[in-house]
Amino acid sequence: MRITKAVVPAGGLGTRLRPITRSVPKEMLPLGARPVIQSVAEELAGAGATDILIITGAGKRAIEDHFDPGGAATDPDASDALSSLLDRSRVRFYATRQGAPRGLGDAIACGEQFAGEEHFLVALGDCVIVGAEPSGPVRRMLAAHIEADAAASILVQRVSLEATGRYGIVKPGADVGAHALAMADIVEKPGPEAAPSRLAVCARYVFSPTLFDYLRGLEPGHGAEIQLTDAVRAMIADGHRVLAVPLQAGEMRLDVGNVTSYTRAFVRTMLTDAEHGEGLRAWTAKLLQHLDDPTTPDPDQPEPS
Ligand code: G1P
Repeated sequence: MRITKAVVPAGGLGTRLRPITRSVPKEMLPLGARPVIQSVAEELAGAGATDILIITGAGKRAIEDHFDPGGAATDPDASDALSSLLDRSRVRFYATRQGAPRGLGDAIACGEQFAGEEHFLVALGDCVIVGAEPSGPVRRMLAAHIEADAAASILVQRVSLEATGRYGIVKPGADVGAHALAMADIVEKPGPEAAPSRLAVCARYVFSPTLFDYLRGLEPGHGAEIQLTDAVRAMIADGHRVLAVPLQAGEMRLDVGNVTSYTRAFVRTMLTDAEHGEGLRAWTAKLLQHLDDPTTPDPDQPEPS
């Protein structure tokens, strides 16, 4: 089985990033020298995705413009990475609107026609996975999913106990092969006292189309939203095989959901950028020194003569 379709939800309102997100979709914020959602698309293409459906909403038109192949073809400034992504013989982009933002489960349900009878990837459009090979974790998840003939597989990361209330948290079962665990249960955003583990859902999933049977008619859950987690929970309860695939050492998720996480993600991406990183690290070191001790030179001020 080859899995080549991907659904990228990008309809969230970005309320924690106001006022930036009054007119700019959070998915279009730069991470390093490209918008977040372009990195997500590159990660998916690197894992074999050829057809990517972006679920948008009000105020998100800039995302469609960014992936307009005509736009890149006539734009001499489009980077090689973007031009290659917009080569229709390699990747095709589609967009549809969610309507009202009723939750992640509702957004994914918009992909039913697109997925058809095929297993498909889901990648949240507001966070990237970084590591030695950005597509590596998704490739590992796909391989485990296919090998175990699973109905769903989800990338997970270990988080601190205090952070469990911000994530879907997994109850792990037995090992399945070298890179995956069976999932015994999953719960959306439990507090530390209720969390079944510290393994948190990490923005990348692969599903069989069976998922849509569980999304249909799902009642609102945490935060009065239609939760993808609740559909997965019901799949597990019905005996479907669901896997958790942990991130490995050196791999991490960077998310742009609020000002602090966005700033950290941006700074980390820039400081590790192949082209700009070295110079920016030297500048940052001088700036930090100056902020600690104002008698040292400010790297943005000329030396006094
Ligand atoms: C969503 C999911 C949650 C997951 C998180 C990060 O939450 O509902 O299960 O852990 O993404 O991938 P959100 O951050 O959109 O509230």
